[in-house]
Amino acid sequence: MTEQHVYPVPEALKQKAAIDADTYQSLYRQSVEQPDAFWAAQAETFLDWQEKWHTVCKSDLRKGEVAWFLGGKLNVSVNCIDRHLEARGDQTAIIWEGDDPSEDQLITYRELHEEVCRLANVLRERGVKKGDRVCLYMPMIPEACYAMLACARIGAVHSVVFGGFSPDALKDRIQNADCQVVITADEGVRGGRKIPLKTNTDKALAECPDVHTCLVVKRTAGDIQWEDSRDVWYRDAVEAASPECEPEWMDSEDPLFILYTSGSTGKPKGVLHTTGGYLLQAAMTHKYVFDQQEGDVYWCTADVGWVTGHSYIVYGPLANGATTLVFEGVPTYPDAARCWEVVDKHGVNSFYTAPTAVRALMGAGDDFVKRTSRKSLRILGSVGEPINPEAWEWYYKVVGDERCPIMDTWWQTETGAHMMTPLPGATDLKPGSCTKPFFGVQPVLLDSEGNEIEGAGEGSLAIKASWPSQLRTVYGDHQRCIDTYYSTYPGYYFTGDGARRDEDGYFWITGRVDDVLNVSGHRMGTAEVESALVLHEQVAEAAVVGYPHDIKGQGIYAYVTPMTGVEPSDELKKELISLCVKEIGAIAKPDIIQWAPGLPKTRSGKIMRRILRKIAANELDSLGDTSTLADPAVVDDLIDNRANR
Ligand code: PRX
Repeated sequence: MTEQHVYPVPEALKQKAAIDADTYQSLYRQSVEQPDAFWAAQAETFLDWQEKWHTVCKSDLRKGEVAWFLGGKLNVSVNCIDRHLEARGDQTAIIWEGDDPSEDQLITYRELHEEVCRLANVLRERGVKKGDRVCLYMPMIPEACYAMLACARIGAVHSVVFGGFSPDALKDRIQNADCQVVITADEGVRGGRKIPLKTNTDKALAECPDVHTCLVVKRTAGDIQWEDSRDVWYRDAVEAASPECEPEWMDSEDPLFILYTSGSTGKPKGVLHTTGGYLLQAAMTHKYVFDQQEGDVYWCTADVGWVTGHSYIVYGPLANGATTLVFEGVPTYPDAARCWEVVDKHGVNSFYTAPTAVRALMGAGDDFVKRTSRKSLRILGSVGEPINPEAWEWYYKVVGDERCPIMDTWWQTETGAHMMTPLPGATDLKPGSCTKPFFGVQPVLLDSEGNEIEGAGEGSLAIKASWPSQLRTVYGDHQRCIDTYYSTYPGYYFTGDGARRDEDGYFWITGRVDDVLNVSGHRMGTAEVESALVLHEQVAEAAVVGYPHDIKGQGIYAYVTPMTGVEPSDELKKELISLCVKEIGAIAKPDIIQWAPGLPKTRSGKIMRRILRKIAANELDSLGDTSTLADPAVVDDLIDNRANR
C-alpha cells in the first residue's frame, strides 16, 4: 500500500536544516516538560518586545481561558516591518504576481513601511482607534497586506472577509463585529474574471448604517456606484497622509484580528486571535516548517480571506523578514502551468498549497509541469484537508522531482498556526500523514467516553494543553467558544476532527467528526447551507451532507423536501442553488440536490445524517441499523431515487 511507503529526510536537508531529528526530539521534550522556559526562549528569539512579559502562560481549558506573555508589549507591524528596515530595507518584502501573467510588482520593506504608515494615518484620521474593528473585503493585491498591517499598527482589529462571500455574508460579518470602516476594491480579478467587490459592498452596507468610511482601491477602474459621504479612493487618501506613523504599543493579549469560520451550528463565528502568542507561533512555524533561509522566496497560494493567508502569507513570513509572494490569480489560469511558471519567474524556494489544487493540476496532466524547470524549489507544503496518497506522490514526484519534502500541515482557524506537521530536516514522511506535533503541541486521541487512547488507535482529536496561537474567544460570545471547543471533553480543546495514530506515533487526520464540510479546503457548516435552502418558500426541509469528490475532496449533497403540493423541477433546483450563492457565496453551491419526500428521522425527530452520508457516498452495504427510524421506508425511497453522478 502506498500509505506505508516512507520517504526519509533528504541527505542535503539533514545537514542544512535548522532542526534535525535529534534536535526535534529534545526540543519537543523540553517544550512539553518545561513549556514556560521553552516558549520564553522562543519569544526572545523570534520577536521584538517593547516591554517584556512577566508571566509566560496562564490557562484554564475548562473555562476556555488562555493568555500568553502577560504584561508584554509589542506591535505586530513593527515586528513585521520596522525592525527589518536597517538590515533589509531594500530587500523585497512582497512579490505581487497579478492574475494576468504580464503584471507584477516588487515591494521592498522600506516601501511596505511607507504604505502601511500612510494607511494607518488615514485610518487614524478617520477616527479608528485601538480596539476598533475594521472590515477588509479585498482581492489579492498588496493593499490587502497593507491594510492588515495598518490595522495592526494602530491597534485596530481587522476582520478579513473572503472576496468570494456574498453581500449577505459580508453584511452579517460587518454587523457581528460592529465594523465602522470597510476597505475594499472596485473589482477583483481572478482567472480572467472580474469580481464586483464594490457593488457587493454597497449591497451589504445598505444594511450597515454605522459604517462611515469605505476606502476603495482602484484595481480595474470598472464602473461602480459612489456614495460621496462614505466612499473614499484609497490612493488619494494615502497620498495625502504622512509616511510616518507612531505604532500603538499593544498588550500581548490585545486582539489582533477576528476571522469568521463555520461550525456545525448557527451562523459563522468570529474566531479572535491576540497579539504576542499568535505572532510568535506564526513566525516560528513559518521558519521551521519551511526551513526559511536568508534570501528565500516563499509562496503560499492561499487567499488572505482565510487563516492560511493571515499566518502564512502575511504575519509569519514578514515577521521573519522573508520575501512573500502574493498571487492574485488561480492555479489554472491562463493554463495549468501557471504555478510552475511563477515559481521559475520569481525563483520560488518554498511552495505551499491545498490538496484540491494539487488534484486539479494532477488532472490536467504532467506536461504542464514538465515544461517548466522548478529547480529553485526546495520545500513543498500542503494544507486544508487530508491529502490523498495518490496526489501526494504526484506532488512529490512530478512537481518536486523527488527532491522536495512535502510538509503536510494540520491546523485550523482556531489554532492560528501549524499544530502537527513534519519538519524538513527532521521528519521521515508518509504520504497522507501530517506526522508529528509541532513544539509545545500535545495532541491526544479520545475514545467515546473521553478517555485518552494510548499508542496506536483512532479517536477524536483533542489538544491537552494551551499553545500560544490558540483562539482566545468567539467574538462577542465566550459561552459559544466554551460550548464549541471546551465542553465536549472538559479540560481539553476539542478540534472537531477525528484522527488515527499509527505504530510510529504518526497522526493521520480522518476528517471532521462534526457537521462541518471541507469543500476544496473551505470550511462550511451543513447548517449554513440548510438554512439557505429552507429560506425558499417551496422548501419544507433540507439536510446537507458531504460526499467524496475527486477534486474538491468533499462535495455538497443536499436532500430537499418540497412543501406539500410543490412539484420538484429543475427550475426549483436552479433557484435553490442561486439562493445558496446569494446567502453565502459561490463556494456553497450544492453539487447534488436530491428530492426527498421524507428524511430519515429518529422517533424523537432527529435527522440521522449518518444514513444520509452513506447514501450520498454510495456506501449502501454499510447503512447500519435503520430500525430505530420513525419510518424506515424513507430510506428505501432515498436509495431508489438517489441522484446519478
Ligand atoms: O478538518 C481539518 C482540515 O481543515 C480543518 C480546519 O479548517 P480551517 O479552519 O478552514 O483551516 C484550514 C487551514 C488551516 C481542520 O479541522 N485540515 C486542515 N489541514 C489539514 C486538514 N485535514 C487534514 N490534513 C491537513 N493537513
